[in-house]
Amino acid sequence: MADKVEITWHGHACFTLDFGKKVVVDPFIEGNPMAKIKKDDIKADLVVVTHGHSDHLGDAVEIASKNKAPIVTFVELGWMLNSENKHLDIRAINYSGSTEVDGIRVTAVPALHSSSLDGKYAGNPAGMVISSGITVYHAGDTGVFGDMSIISDLYKPDISLLPIGGFYTMSEYEATYAAGLLKSPYFIPMHYNTFDLIKADPQKFKKETEEKHQVNVIVPEVEEVIKIDKQDLGKR
Ligand code: NI
Ligand code: MN
Repeated sequence: MADKVEITWHGHACFTLDFGKKVVVDPFIEGNPMAKIKKDDIKADLVVVTHGHSDHLGDAVEIASKNKAPIVTFVELGWMLNSENKHLDIRAINYSGSTEVDGIRVTAVPALHSSSLDGKYAGNPAGMVISSGITVYHAGDTGVFGDMSIISDLYKPDISLLPIGGFYTMSEYEATYAAGLLKSPYFIPMHYNTFDLIKADPQKFKKETEEKHQVNVIVPEVEEVIKIDKQDLGKR
């Protein structure tokens, strides 16, 4: 169980969550105009993929192979990846299902979105709750939905990573509402300003969400390391 987490945003929906063991989520590095790191420099003990779209699956297979790290993803996408990559350790979970790797528990939760791989249906999209003493909810790509309050009740995420770019996901407006359902002490916006279609203002999200819900919104620079201590989190 970790007493702190170090969060590094690599641009778009890609994060490293370092609990002592490193979890890399949605590793879209190659072709990500915001990325400053090279995919070969990504270190991972575990790779988590929310859905099959190329801006999330990204370089997951290559990074998992190179780091000999398991991949946790949603069931159909996991099967598709496994059929092409027999050497990989793929944990293909479904909603409310969990798996544990190196003391880090990953649980799949709904996302209101779609999922495909090379134009083929790839099962449902997911958000992922990633927990080791501190709980991080990576919402994946999603619209806002009322059952975010169930995610809040069941898992009590300390830090929620929410898309704000609009067009394919929530914009700032819906994400501020989502923050009220999730009630995390900390939020970090993602999935914005990577492409022209998903232009958003993270400072607007920060101002409105902090005013409305008395929570903290952190807007990291790409590759900035955000340290959050268990003792910073307070009681819920
Ligand atoms: Ni998507
Ligand atoms: Mn996306």
